[in-house]
Amino acid sequence: MADDLTTNAQALVAPGRGVLAADESTGTIGKRFASIDIESTAETRQAYRDTLFTTPGLADSISGVIMYDETIRQSSADGTPFPDLLKKLGIQPGIKVDTGAKDLAKAPGEKITEGLDGLRERIAEYVDLGATFAKWRAVITIGEGGLPSRYCIEANAHALARYAALCQEGGLVPIVEPEVLMDGDHSIERCFEVTELTQRTVFSTLAEHRVDLEQMVLKPNMVISGKGNAQQAGVEEVAEQTLRCLRRTVPPAVPGIAFLSGGQSAAVATEHLNAMNTMGPHPWVLTFSYGRALQDPALAAWKGEASNREASQQALSERARANSEATSGSYKAA
Ligand code: 13P
Repeated sequence: MADDLTTNAQALVAPGRGVLAADESTGTIGKRFASIDIESTAETRQAYRDTLFTTPGLADSISGVIMYDETIRQSSADGTPFPDLLKKLGIQPGIKVDTGAKDLAKAPGEKITEGLDGLRERIAEYVDLGATFAKWRAVITIGEGGLPSRYCIEANAHALARYAALCQEGGLVPIVEPEVLMDGDHSIERCFEVTELTQRTVFSTLAEHRVDLEQMVLKPNMVISGKGNAQQAGVEEVAEQTLRCLRRTVPPAVPGIAFLSGGQSAAVATEHLNAMNTMGPHPWVLTFSYGRALQDPALAAWKGEASNREASQQALSERARANSEATSGSYKAA
């Protein structure tokens, strides 16, 4: 099994390919649908995910799809379960196994991700359903009063490490996602400090928990200015600072780093990844595991109408291809 996990981790970050994060919880996809007046029901969620997953040529640039619990149990229009459909295409089926970020006790303004109780059993069930990898997202907030606290970073690192160890024991490659949020008016320097401390803490905790670095993928935020800061760092600076941070904190044993988009526009998320990949060589593969930056144009084109299926697939295809090019630094903005 260890060999399989190493192979699957490497395959997730294979040249020119990255991950489609389509694991919005029912609550989150409901908000995305509501923003363009689509009703959120099990049927509309199935129809939307079916549109995404059956995009012609998707496997050229997408190595894995992260699903939510509801989605991994749903099927394509022809009755093929989504995990089987993806496998046939050569795309690994993945599953979000955390149950969301909740308020951290005695830490106003900070979050802890839940989902460890019963996780061993849930992992076994997801393996039976066909999953080969998993995701757990920790949320770190930069804010007033010196936030984040060390307490919050350590509690989240502990949960990420327990999750990753359980995944490897149960046969899933863990995507380890410590996300330092873009929300706030902080500078890029402050984002650097917090991201460095977070990643250092995560990797020391992964080591204590006996997690094999060869059998995981890191999914970090980029080092970037807070959304509310008037001084927005440019593409080159984001790329340079993100790389400086990763070189300090991520051991080369990790096969790949697949960034989240975190609220960046689709175009900017691609430009950042591309810039980093023009600055190599790097000890790890740098690719994408975008949610909004891959899906937003596809969702906007779909509008909940079966007749827009092809337009939606075309939009996803374009973003996926652009990000595939960005993994080799060969993307040229139109
Ligand atoms: P975004 O790329 O929209 O941040 O989503 C990625 C993800 O999986 C967040 O957990």
